[in-house]
Amino acid sequence: MTLLVTGGAGFIGSNFVLDWLGQSDEPVVTLDALTYAGNLANLAGLRGDARHTFVHGDICDRALVESLLAQHRPRAVVHFAAESHVDRSIHGPGAFMRTNIEGTYTLLEAARAHWSALGGAEREAFRFLHVSTDEVYGSLGPGDAAFTESHPYEPNSPYSASKAASDHLVRAWHHTYGLPVLTTNCSNNYGPFHFPEKLIPLMIVNALAGKALPVYGDGQQIRDWLYVRDHCSGIRAVLAGGRVGETYNIGGWNEKANLEIVRTVCALLDELRPDPQGPCARLITFVADRPGHDRRYAIDARKIERELGWRPAETFETGIRKTVQWYLDHADWVAQVQSGAYRDWLATQYGAREAA
Ligand code: NAD
Ligand code: TYD
Repeated sequence: MTLLVTGGAGFIGSNFVLDWLGQSDEPVVTLDALTYAGNLANLAGLRGDARHTFVHGDICDRALVESLLAQHRPRAVVHFAAESHVDRSIHGPGAFMRTNIEGTYTLLEAARAHWSALGGAEREAFRFLHVSTDEVYGSLGPGDAAFTESHPYEPNSPYSASKAASDHLVRAWHHTYGLPVLTTNCSNNYGPFHFPEKLIPLMIVNALAGKALPVYGDGQQIRDWLYVRDHCSGIRAVLAGGRVGETYNIGGWNEKANLEIVRTVCALLDELRPDPQGPCARLITFVADRPGHDRRYAIDARKIERELGWRPAETFETGIRKTVQWYLDHADWVAQVQSGAYRDWLATQYGAREAA
């Protein structure tokens, strides 16, 4: 028994691999291209661990994927690998089309060939679990009901459109070829190893450096935040008991406006690492809004609770405190990811964005 995990050196993938091997001896093969978002330091805790194999490679490389399936005969593929940042998809959508759509297609075809040749119990047990996002459902108005699994797909950014396309491919490979797929659509994650281009880690690392905290538009956009380890336990539950061909929404029942998130991070930093220059919130700066910015996401997570008994273990208060503390304790990790390429991104994204 083995899992093939794509994108396992990224934020959620690395938390999943660490979490998995923390609770099980079932081996994991991680396939990751180590883009700017992939970082082997996230998996440093597994160095020398015979249960983990790291393969540096691209999910668009069909021959490589086929050889990994043939060599390791995994009982499941857990597919995290993606380009994942909306702002980057606005600046350069091409990589999103390639990895998120062509990469998923390549994995599906390789998995189909592999699964078709299996027999008996191995064929029965095989699963392809596709990790997706609530952003495929588009934006909610203030009084709208939260996204259920039957909400229409209305993606608005190049990122969410590419993830929606990948979800459709996964659905079609089940419907047409019978590939035993599962899809999860999760809300915004936060926690350890989160690359500091996304809201929460960017605010923490900027505040620690005394830099501006850039809030887009009026800061009243709402996201439904989930601690990353709760996402991992949700994926484990779906892998273990999800019905083949079904999708499961995963969320934290935790809608918050961005400005409230930033103020919470500031209050925690004021408590845990007070800045002699003054309260952290003085750094909050309103900047030009993101083009096409979705106003509100909210997940209705009743299906996964009803069918699989899953609920998040963390509240936002416990999860965000752990997260801020993790960044305070891992200054070395933060320094390592703030490479030249990261600085180039900050200049591209925020350099010309005037304070609003
Ligand atoms: P991430 O950007 O932190 O990590 C992505 C990983 O994929 C990186 O390690 C990167 O090196 C790897 N990768 C990229 N292109 C690749 C390729 N062509 N071949 C092999 N590896 C490649 O992303 P994340 O935040 O960990 O998200 C993981 C998955 O979860 C994505 O599919 C994303 O759409 C989904 N998701 C993310 C969130 C969130 O809040 N971050 C919420 C819901 C769903
Ligand atoms: P992000 O972490 O990029 O996730 P997503 O766009 O996938 O939801 O952004 C979360 C929210 O925070 C989103 O509404 C955009 C906003 N945001 C800012 O206000 N300032 C920033 O510098 C960033 C990166 C995001």
